[in-house]
Parts: sequence; C-alpha cells; structure tokens
Amino acid sequence: MPNLYRLIRPLLFSFDPERAHDLAFWAGGLAQRFPLPDPKLGPGLAVEAFGLRFPSPLGLAAGLDKGARLLPLWKSMGFGHVEIGTVTPRPQPGNPRPRLFRLPSEGIILNRMGFNSEGAEVVAARLKERPRGLIVGGNLGKNKATPEENALEDYVAAYRFIAPQVDYIALNVSSPNTPGLRNLQAPKALGPLLDGMLAARREMGLEAQPLLLKLAPDQAFEELDGIVEVAVASGISGLIATNTTLDRSIVSALNHNKVQAWGQGGLSGRGLAVKARSVRARLLQTLRGRLPLIACGGLSSPEEVAAALKEGAVLAQIYSALIFEGPGLVGRINRELA
Ligand SMILES: Cc1cc2nc3c(=O)[nH]c(=O)nc-3n(C[C@H](O)[C@H](O)[C@H](O)COP(=O)(O)O)c2cc1C
Repeated sequence: MPNLYRLIRPLLFSFDPERAHDLAFWAGGLAQRFPLPDPKLGPGLAVEAFGLRFPSPLGLAAGLDKGARLLPLWKSMGFGHVEIGTVTPRPQPGNPRPRLFRLPSEGIILNRMGFNSEGAEVVAARLKERPRGLIVGGNLGKNKATPEENALEDYVAAYRFIAPQVDYIALNVSSPNTPGLRNLQAPKALGPLLDGMLAARREMGLEAQPLLLKLAPDQAFEELDGIVEVAVASGISGLIATNTTLDRSIVSALNHNKVQAWGQGGLSGRGLAVKARSVRARLLQTLRGRLPLIACGGLSSPEEVAAALKEGAVLAQIYSALIFEGPGLVGRINRELA
C-alpha cells in the first residue's frame, strides 16, 4: 500500500487539491462496492474510552469524510474510529473555491472550506448504513447564516438528527472558517452552549453518549485554563485538541509568501505538531485527569502518535498526514502501537 501510494501520489497531487479529494472519494466509493479486507487489529490494540471500546486508539479526524461516505473504507484501512462532519443543521455550500491548498515540502495543508455540508438530515440517513466494528463520532457545527447568539439552536438541530446514529458527538467551536465560531470557546458563551447541549442529550435519552468539545490551538494558556474549568464543571465527557491554526509562523520563511498569497484559512499538518502538542500539555496539566483528551494536530508518524498517547491522550486522530503519506500510514501506526 505505501509503495502504491508513492506511485499515485504525483498524479493525485497534479490535480487541484479539491479535485484530487473528489477523485479519491470517487475511487473509494468504487472500492467500497466490493468486499473489503478486515483490518488487522489485534485485541491488544483496543482501548476503552468514554465508556466505548475503540478497536484502535487511532482515528480519522473530522473534515475528511464530512458526509460519512466512506466508512467501510476507513474501517478496512485500520482506523478505530472516524469523526464524520463537520455537519451543519441545514445544507450549505461552504466558501467559494479555491479553498484547499497543500504544501508538500512541509506536510502542511491550508483550508478555508467553511463547512460545506449536505446538512444533518442527509448525513443521518446515510449513517443508518454504517458498518459495524468502527466507532463513529459526529462532529457538529452551525450554519454560516446563523447569528452567533443563536448558535445553540443550530447545534441542537444538527444533534437531533445525528446523535441517534453515532457513538459520540464532538462540538466544533474551533474552526477558523466560520466567522465568529471561535467566540463560542469563551467561557461566557461556552457554559450556556454546553449546558444546552447536555439538556438536549437528556431530552433525547442519550445520557450515556459521550459529548466532546474540539478546541483550537490559538488561545493563550490562561484562556485554555478557563475553558477547561467550564468544560469540567459542565459535565461533558472530554476534549479534542486541536483544530487548525491561524498562526502563519508555523510555515518556514522560505514558503511564507506562497502561503500568504493563498489567503485566509487554517493550517494543519506537520508544522502544527509543536503548537498542538504544547496546547495538549497545558490542557492535560490543567485537567489533572478530570476529563480524557483526544490528541489531534500535526501527528505525522507512528512515533508521534505513540508519544501523544504516552503523554496522556486517550486516543489520537490524524488528517493531513494521511493525505501526504497515504493509507499505509494507518497500518504502520497500528503496528507501532501494538
Ligand atoms: C481540509 C480540511 C478540512 C477540515 N475540516 C474540519 C471540519 O469540518 N471540522 C473539524 O472539526 N475539523 C476539520 N479539520 C481539522 C482536522 O480535523 C484537524 O483538527 C486538523 O487538521 C489537525 O490535524 P492534522 O494536522 O492531523 O491534519 C479539517 C482539516 C482539513 C485539512
């Protein structure tokens, strides 16, 4: 598999990134029509977290399979979980293209997709066909047109469709590409949002379903500490850290102008590793074991994933590294962890 990817990567990367994405999804959809091999995951790889049994600690981060289209394929690759979405309550197109850029020399992706989503109803219907033996999380966001003060209604609307079809929910308040979204991380806004979501969970009789919060890497440590206290006090189930960064200094000076010319968006991949790791270290320190943490952001090798788990994260997620390294990376990580 890794060698095969090394062969087709130049072809894939010769296309505009979003065309390549669509092409890969088309091919993945074709592959899924045939029986796929079961992943080779020993029982020793499984982890218990949030009351769920994950067949591997490694998951696919949100944003790649926004519409839950390729779940059998991700399972076959060896992912223990997949976070689908971000799903918005109503369908929306996202930002105008181009909105996705790659910097292969640094393993970095810039995106300003802006929550292109088929909407919660369509995605929920597709989830009814989900494969067994794969943990599926539903990552939720708000529609762009919804004012910040009505955000809770949007999250609840998406929740009602998606929650019954998934194993856990992640609230995305950390995408930089929906204006104002990150303001929901501020303790004053976050408290009511989490309380409202927990009330919706009770109303639906889903008290046992984990509710997680996905954070950005760009706030000061003092702000992170405040977020942790609100999250712990609310009674949610855990944190995911981190989403993409707005910090352009993670790009080497050599490529600075190039990335600057691409315009707005969040950066992910290898260059994010140091920043995301220091955010996780601070969160773990403040959490003192009160909530579990999922590591995400810049993890690009088996060693880095293993280190993130050793440092205290219960699970790890990747996105950008899969684009640059190919599907073989998943098996390599699983073998290292085993
Ligand atoms: C093209 C692209 C789209 C993304 N879309 C979402 C999204 O819809 N929701 C979300 O929570 N995170 C989204 N992310 C962020 C990833 O889930 C992840 O947090 C981030 O990329 C850092 O991990 P990585 O360095 O392994 O890519 C997206 C990332 C990329 C590259």
